[in-house]
Amino acid sequence: MGRKFVVGGNWKMNGDKNQINEIVNNLKKGPLDENVEVIIGVPAIYLAYVKSIVPDSIAVAAQNCWKVPKGAFTGEISPAMLKDVGINWVILGHSERRSIFGEKDELVAEKVAHALESGLKVIACIGETLEEREAGKTEEVVFRQTKALLSAIGDKWANVVLAYEPVWAIGTGKTASPQQAQEVHSSLRNWLSTNASPDVANAVRIQYGGSVTAANAKELAACSDIDGFLVGGASLKPEFVDIINATK
Ligand code: PGA
Repeated sequence: MGRKFVVGGNWKMNGDKNQINEIVNNLKKGPLDENVEVIIGVPAIYLAYVKSIVPDSIAVAAQNCWKVPKGAFTGEISPAMLKDVGINWVILGHSERRSIFGEKDELVAEKVAHALESGLKVIACIGETLEEREAGKTEEVVFRQTKALLSAIGDKWANVVLAYEPVWAIGTGKTASPQQAQEVHSSLRNWLSTNASPDVANAVRIQYGGSVTAANAKELAACSDIDGFLVGGASLKPEFVDIINATK
């Protein structure tokens, strides 16, 4: 189907200049599979620095941004500011933003809409909690979260990557099994076929995220509807190179 594999690293609130230099040097050394798109999600204060030291083949993403271009929003940064310092991607709707900072579907959608309008590309995150999964609500939650994004995305699907990240798998060491992940990716693609369009469903890349490591990446990457990863903890480690190369 020709969906280019896309691996994101989400550093979250980690790293200092020394560690960042090490991570970037490791990525430069690679070697990285040239058929894989690589995007690293960097704390806001280091975005410009990282952009200045990574090769152009590695994209840099913010981990959040606000929903208007400028104004009295103390502490926030806008897509326009990101573009101004050469950043072309943003991660939005991460479960930590949703749960710790109280971001609801509607706010995530407004942020996605404004980021896309401003010319950013977006990694939009969705995923159920353990409680929701155990209550048999995985699809309901994932479809609800995605539905909220439909009108925000409009005809800009080419600039969106979806990241399915079951909350119970994030930072817990409990990866979804390839079967569990594939099942959600495939039903999400079917849902998109009906609710967006068959073309969107075929073309959109759906990353899996949640305790991805070099040890489990290959098996997950072999699933037909898994088009990449969003990697937290392991993106700070040398094994991130092996995760990028998981389809080799
Ligand atoms: P993890 O985080 O790989 O540390 O589980 C994934 C994420 O939150 O994107």
